[in-house]
Formats: sequence, structure tokens, C-alpha cells
Amino acid sequence: MVSPGMKRYRVRTEAQASLVGARGDELLDPAALFARPAPLRLEIGFGHGEFISAMADAHPDEHFIGVEYDQLRVTKTAHKCLKTGATNVRLFSGEAHRFVRHRLPPNSLQRAYILFPDPWPKAGQRRRRLVNRAFLLDLAHAMAPGSRLMFASDTHNYAFQVLSNVTTLPGLWRSLYPSGYRIDIPTRFPTVFERHKKEEGCTICYVSLERTELPAPERAPWPVVEEKREA
Ligand SMILES: C[S@@+](CC[C@H](N)C(=O)[O-])C[C@H]1O[C@@H](n2cnc3c(N)ncnc32)[C@H](O)[C@@H]1O
Repeated sequence: MVSPGMKRYRVRTEAQASLVGARGDELLDPAALFARPAPLRLEIGFGHGEFISAMADAHPDEHFIGVEYDQLRVTKTAHKCLKTGATNVRLFSGEAHRFVRHRLPPNSLQRAYILFPDPWPKAGQRRRRLVNRAFLLDLAHAMAPGSRLMFASDTHNYAFQVLSNVTTLPGLWRSLYPSGYRIDIPTRFPTVFERHKKEEGCTICYVSLERTELPAPERAPWPVVEEKREA
């Protein structure tokens, strides 16, 4: 159900649409997208756009792309970016794994953020989680050596599952935290979910991974995750 507050995002203005990228599976050319080269950051499942709009505003010399299922949230985030004056953002509606696999050139990303992905908390639902081994392999292709992935979730076993999936891709990712994860670190731009979960008294588990120099191995042909919802 669409909340009354979100209904206004059913129609996208021309200005909002200018920040929204074309749908499809074509490989992106980030420099052409922004008409100049610059370091590229990706947020996956940006929701209501607090993080990506604030980060883009704070880093005007870098480029930000986001991918999100929900069309209304895409429009709301474009609205937020326009309000902050952040024009170094392009937002895409679609399924994140498909986007990472098909649209991102090799070694194109400097940073990736997956903040409070859908937790699928029941044991029988865990196979639906986005950050599985195949996803981490596709992301490894898109991320440059030395680039970083930040993952956050109040569902700690999801964070542990990510760390376990990383061990099945030997040498591609290095944990930046000695114990693999950290709990409740201070964050500069908390997301909506982060704030809500903290207000509920939840503790948050963070995983920070660095992409190594090792070239990513061959991938299985697409589709690898047929059960994932299409936008
Ligand atoms: C729990 S919300 C968190 C939103 C935001 N990151 C935050 O922390 O406030 C998860 C978001 O990811 C989006 N999402 C979940 N799975 C996705 C996928 N496979 N591809 C694209 N977006 C996805 C959902 O539509 C939703 O907006």
C-alpha cells in the first residue's frame, strides 16, 4: 500500500527525471553519464535516499549512482537530491544484482554501500538475501582494486552470512575489521532504517571489505538467481 506521503512521488517532474537513469541492461559509461570522469560510488537499495543525497552533497567531486526496486523511492530520492543541490547523482530503478552484473563496467567502483538490505530473517527465507556468493562475485568484477564495500544490518546473522560467503571467494575481499565485523560504530549520515532500528533498541552490525588486487574469476552465465524479484 502506498502511504499518503509517498503518493506525490507517483508523477516524476522533469527535474527529478533528469537524475533518473534509463532502464535496461546496457553497460553504463559513468564518465559519459556525468560528462566528466570522477571516482564512482554505488548505493544499493537506497530507500528514501537520506544517505545517497547527503553523501553526494558532501562529496561534490565524486559521482554517485544508486539502484532501488521501488519507483516511488527513486523519485523521492531524486527530489531530495535536488533539494540538497546534489546533481552528481544518477538513480536507477531495478533489481540490484542484475544491475551490478549487467550495467557496471569492470573496476568502475571505488565504494559500494549496502545499508540495511531486506533481512529475510526466517531461516527458510535466507536464500532470498541479496548478498550471496554470486552477488559478491559480480560485485568483485565491478569494484576496482583497493575499493571498499560497507554493509550494515541489524540482522547480525546476515552480516555473518556475508563474511562466510566472502570465504568462498578466496583472495577477492579483505575484511577491514580485525574480527570481521563491528557493532554500533558512529555513522556520519544514518539511514532511515538505521535510525528506526536504533530507536527500537537494536544493535547494528557493520562489515567493511576491501577489494584486493586479485582478478575476479569467471562467472556462471546469467541468470544465476532467477527467484529475485524484477522491478
Ligand atoms: C530495508 S530497506 C533499507 C533502505 C535504506 N537502505 C535504509 O537503510 O533506510 C531495503 C531497501 O532495499 C530495496 N531493495 C531490496 N532488495 C533490492 C534489490 N534486490 N534490488 C534493488 N533494491 C532492493 C527495497 O526496495 C528497500 O527500499
